[in-house]
Amino acid sequence: MARVFRGSLLLMSPAAAAAAAAAAGAKKAASTKPRAPAGITKPMPVSEAFRRFAGGAREVARSEAIKLVWTHIKAHGLQNPSNKTEINCDATLKSLFGGRDKIGMMEVSKLLSPHFLKN
Ligand SMILES: *[C@@H]1O[C@H](CO)[C@@H](O)[C@H](O)[C@H]1NC(C)=O
Repeated sequence: MARVFRGSLLLMSPAAAAAAAAAAGAKKAASTKPRAPAGITKPMPVSEAFRRFAGGAREVARSEAIKLVWTHIKAHGLQNPSNKTEINCDATLKSLFGGRDKIGMMEVSKLLSPHFLKN
C-alpha cells in the first residue's frame, strides 16, 4: 500500500509535484525545510509597496512574505482551478509583480526578491 502510494507520487508531473509540495509547505510555513535557503526566516527590510501589503511591517522574513502572498491568493481565489500552478494576479499582486496578469507558483519567491532591500 505504502509502496503504491510512493509510486504514484513519482508518477506525478513535475508541476503537480511542485503544486503538492507548495500546498504542503503553505500549511506549515516556518517549519524546518531541508532545502530552505539560509536566512529565509530572518526579517529583512522590505520595499514601500510590500510594506503596505504586509500591513505596515518594516521588516519581513522571506518565508513570511511567501506565506502572506499565499494567504492573499487563497483568500481571493486567485489560483487557476484548471491549473493550480498558475495564479491570476489581481490588482494587488499586479502592483507587487510588475504588472503581470498571471504568474507561476514557482515564480513567487523570485518575483518577491526586488521587494527585499539588501542594504
Ligand atoms: C500551468 O501554469 C503554469 C504557470 O503559468 C504554466 O507554466 C504551465 O505550462 C501550465 N500548465 C498547463 C498544463 O497549462
